[in-house]
Amino acid sequence: MSPVCVYRLTMGVLGTVTWLTAASALGAAVFAAYLYSSLPPDVTEPRKALIVKGFMRSHFFMAWVHEKMGFGIMRPQPPPRASHPSLEVTDASFDGVRVLVYKPPAQKTATESKMAGLLWFHGGGWVIGSIDEYDGLVGRIANKTGAVVVSVEYRLAPEHKFPIPFEDCLTATQHFLQHASEYGVDPTRIGVAGDSAGGNLAAAVALRLNKDDKKKFPPLKLQALVYPALQAFDFQTPSYVRGHKFSPVVLPPNLMIVFWIKYLNNNMSLVDTFSNNGHTAALKKSRFASFVDRDFLDESVPRSTPDEDVSIDLPDDIKDILNPYFSPLMAEDADLSGLPNTYVTVCGKDILRDDGIMYAKRLEMAGVQVQLVRYPSGFHGIMSMTSEPFYFEVGKQMDQEFATFLRDHL
Ligand SMILES: *[C@@H]1O[C@H](CO)[C@@H](O)[C@H](O)[C@H]1NC(C)=O
Ligand SMILES: *[C@@H]1O[C@H](CO)[C@@H](O)[C@H](O)[C@H]1NC(C)=O
Repeated sequence: MSPVCVYRLTMGVLGTVTWLTAASALGAAVFAAYLYSSLPPDVTEPRKALIVKGFMRSHFFMAWVHEKMGFGIMRPQPPPRASHPSLEVTDASFDGVRVLVYKPPAQKTATESKMAGLLWFHGGGWVIGSIDEYDGLVGRIANKTGAVVVSVEYRLAPEHKFPIPFEDCLTATQHFLQHASEYGVDPTRIGVAGDSAGGNLAAAVALRLNKDDKKKFPPLKLQALVYPALQAFDFQTPSYVRGHKFSPVVLPPNLMIVFWIKYLNNNMSLVDTFSNNGHTAALKKSRFASFVDRDFLDESVPRSTPDEDVSIDLPDDIKDILNPYFSPLMAEDADLSGLPNTYVTVCGKDILRDDGIMYAKRLEMAGVQVQLVRYPSGFHGIMSMTSEPFYFEVGKQMDQEFATFLRDHL
């Protein structure tokens, strides 16, 4: 090769490298600017929130490509389970449902005294997530509360649609209530809890045990719902509308709607109809609409009740939207009364904020003891983000207050 050729080739390569570097820097800058400009105002620790948002958006994009290429739902391998030096962690099957049992050392104070118990249902839109992924959080709860915590590996949608995930959680709960003493647990001190879709499952299980199975099992001691998803009736609540405007850090409105549909019937052509409430337009004057009344969000405005109760059935493929075990906010007032002591946390920068507030208000009106805790600058998923590199003070505070509630009330 002549020196001229070498020179041209080198320059060509250098030019291409420079061009690619510049293009990717520009691309990264545009992506960052987009993320930052659409970050909800007053979100906690915005610089870190921005990194989380960039990470989540790239992840969702890859998951979308993965699915479009025909590989199904992307469910990455979770990191190996942590070691919990002060806990005994065992795999078990509760009537066919896989669980992990986290057992703290028995307290030595009161002789013969049994421990409290908690069933934990993880989040992930009924579609992703696992007991392995939640190992850190669940171990922390067991350690901080001194309760035996059962983390439930319910089967996931869309392979297993409603009611399977719900029924798995119910089966595990009933098993634990019946076999509590085998785990050193007092059956009258058992609660259910979960975050996001897990909060939905916990609320549904509590409703079901309060209704049909009252005589067969000891009543639950409490339900603790962390930014729960509780209704698929109204996707235009103020917190959803705000989510359309500002593009949330972790959970955008359309993703939540996709999760609901995968749990319901996996018919993705319904996304647009759902997002503008076309699926429930005919029910605007029904009592169901009064269950998701926006007046609940304002302390001063009295609740409006429908003049007439139109009874229109939804088509078979979406009728479970009105089923309280699918969306607990659809429960009748009579079925809410008698529910156990309830703890609900909501984040101000979360599209699911209003689901939690409405449920807490309805429970209160039904005479249930309920504590609604708001984290105005927090966003969806933040309670899981308590260690580096994703570390948020608000998340840590939520985690601590959640554990304190459980310790004091179980
Ligand atoms: C929680 O973990 C710490 C450190 O491993 C331990 O000292 C403590 O006893 C644990 N508490 C409970 C209730 O298991
Ligand atoms: C999906 O929903 C659309 C719109 O409601 C409906 O026309 C279609 O028949 C549904 N597809 C299936 C497979 O149920």
